[in-house]
Amino acid sequence: MSKPVRAKISALGTYVPPRLLTNADLEKMVDTTNDWIMERVGIRERHLVDKGVGASDLAVEAVKKLLKSHPFDLQQVDLIVVGTVTPDMMYPSTACLVQHKLGIENTWGFDVSAGCSGFLYALNTGTKFVESGRYKKVLVIGADVNSSMTDFTDRAVCIIFGDGAGAVLLEPAEEGEDGIIDHVAQVEGMGGQYLYMPGGGSLNPASHDTVDQKMHYIHQDGKQVFKYAVKKMSEMTERVLERNKLTGKDVDCFIAHQANRRIITATAERLEMPAEKVVINIDRFGNTTAGTIPLAMQTALEEKKLKKGNLVLLAAVGAGFTSGATLVRWAF
Ligand code: COA
Repeated sequence: MSKPVRAKISALGTYVPPRLLTNADLEKMVDTTNDWIMERVGIRERHLVDKGVGASDLAVEAVKKLLKSHPFDLQQVDLIVVGTVTPDMMYPSTACLVQHKLGIENTWGFDVSAGCSGFLYALNTGTKFVESGRYKKVLVIGADVNSSMTDFTDRAVCIIFGDGAGAVLLEPAEEGEDGIIDHVAQVEGMGGQYLYMPGGGSLNPASHDTVDQKMHYIHQDGKQVFKYAVKKMSEMTERVLERNKLTGKDVDCFIAHQANRRIITATAERLEMPAEKVVINIDRFGNTTAGTIPLAMQTALEEKKLKKGNLVLLAAVGAGFTSGATLVRWAF
């Protein structure tokens, strides 16, 4: 029997659009304050696209950044998996648009829709393709343009979200080298009612009526999402650690989806992880949905919280509800 193949993350690239929306800007748009946003959520500013920029554009920029730090021939890419809930359009998939814009000739790909767990679910999927032994270079991308579905008159929503993207390259690990170790994931569809965009799908196709009723915006019951996220992120991280006979003390770096600073710190406390092991950049980017985890990986590298050989715990909870946690031995 051939030896099992392990996937590793061998490169990273991220991108946020240049335009900033600060809390001071939001104070002029809705009834809110910088102090409230900083205390309740932990966001200072977020980046938003200009008109005419879609998720595929952010994804392509993220891949270009990846190529700068880790040059290789893009024609070798076997598969493109894109986590997004804000595709440029219903179809074709963002993966097809990315393939075309990057001119990768002999590949295939698809999108994964898992809300704020989108990057983790795309990563789990890409990992399985590499582990199959047949795939040697898989691009896993998380990209979201949340501003496209944000009601900028709804103060409980518009303060939270930003736009951004990140891409990683998955390759087979060398003999004896670690990589992506394990994952857990779960969906609980009862949570669909608390975070969703009802308009524009097959149930409520776009019409004047759906637009008048603001059905193309994010609808969120923040309290319910918050309560679930705190409980579930702890549960999923503990589950993946226990499966691997590890505890929070073994983890070198905790990289969680950045939805609310309080959700991340509550999970870290439960796992008894000190602040220096926890990556937080929500203050600079807000919640970029599938973009948050690669953006936080980038921050971790820049802040030297993440080094080759580190045991990294990734975690996310999102619309669906979806949730997951992944253990990675960092490879570069
Ligand atoms: N500025 C000032 N006040 C605001 C506000 C804002 N931007 N948004 C809401 N409020 C008000 C509410 O209207 C409410 O006022 P009331 O008591 O007079 O009714 C009060 O603040 C408390 O609202 P509540 O919803 O209980 O606040 P909260 O502490 O739960 O914080 C969220 C709201 C949305 C920040 C928080 O629930 C949250 O982060 N939820 C998770 C959202 C999320 O992560 N979504 C993505 C999932 S991946």
